[in-house]
Amino acid sequence: MGKIHAAITGVQGWVPETKLTNKDLEKMVDTNDEWILSRTGIRERRILRTPGWATSDMCAEAVKGLLEKTGVKPGEIDMIIVATVTGDLIFPDTANTVCDKVGAKNAFGFDINAACSGFLFALSTGAQFVQNETYNKVIVVGADMMSSIIDYTDRNTCVIFGDGAGAVLLEPRKDGNGILDFVLRGDGAGRELLHMKAGGSRKPATVETLAAREHYAWQDGKRVFVHAVKGMTSTCEEVIRRNKMTTDDVQWIVPHQANMRIITSVAEHLHFPLERVMINIERYGNTTAATLPLCLWDYEKQLKKGDNIILTAFGGGFTWGALYLKWAY
Ligand code: COA
Repeated sequence: MGKIHAAITGVQGWVPETKLTNKDLEKMVDTNDEWILSRTGIRERRILRTPGWATSDMCAEAVKGLLEKTGVKPGEIDMIIVATVTGDLIFPDTANTVCDKVGAKNAFGFDINAACSGFLFALSTGAQFVQNETYNKVIVVGADMMSSIIDYTDRNTCVIFGDGAGAVLLEPRKDGNGILDFVLRGDGAGRELLHMKAGGSRKPATVETLAAREHYAWQDGKRVFVHAVKGMTSTCEEVIRRNKMTTDDVQWIVPHQANMRIITSVAEHLHFPLERVMINIERYGNTTAATLPLCLWDYEKQLKKGDNIILTAFGGGFTWGALYLKWAY
């Protein structure tokens, strides 16, 4: 009998209707469409404007769509993991709220905070429970409402980020398809280059932190850029090498959508053709934990059973990694 692997058996995304275009941003900060497009590859991003809605609502929409698509009933779900840095509240976690909102009465959930690598970390975590035969139906969601922590007077960050959610269903498979390997890395020293300055236990919210605009995402973009290229390239190389493949054996690379120049640079370093790299940054920008599942959702129709796919990401922490899977349907 074949070894059990956790396989993605369905994917669904959800993005808000409201578009924030480069032209819109021209009216908000000192920037222009030409700069944003040439330096980031982004034309527009989606912004959640539905009154009263937050990250859990985007997750719930993606999960409800996933259940409908896969024919799974809410009561059949064992566990929901949500990767996010913009949970509804500092506590409780967003995953349990999502369980409640989708009617997953027999499930429990928890959040994973690994910023832009969150989906990769959550996917590899969820896979363990399925592979070990603890659970049969695990949902992994990557979702962020970045607009809730973006300073729309800061042109270094506001042009990059957008809102969205993507969810996958993990189930056991014995046919050799599924999640086969992953390399996850971290370097806490990177916290200096990408973070939110206040709102946590180090610097709780005060009138001063609000006045200093410290409740927004802050980054040293240029230095993050260099680490992102290095981190994603090296972990992709490692996962390809240790699974005795070459890039010719890989049908698709799914990179975190942070900057089109980062994506291109990683592909060049790997000598991997851009036609087989999933890219949707132009329409969504950087949706943090949602970029990878949103790519899989966009490209789902082009995927074939048995395709070798490498997911890779880099994010705040620093966190980064690459995951190898064989597409299961
Ligand atoms: N519009 C116009 N000009 C801008 C601008 C904007 N939105 N943002 C920055 N600039 C300016 C800078 O002020 C600078 O001007 P100067 O030379 O007069 O000082 C110039 O453009 C170049 O800035 P720089 O920061 O070197 O640009 P860059 O080419 O590195 O692009 C980022 C900036 C943020 C797009 C890029 O560094 C990046 O994508 N980094 C990775 C960020 C990331 O991935 N973060 C998420 C975690 S994975």
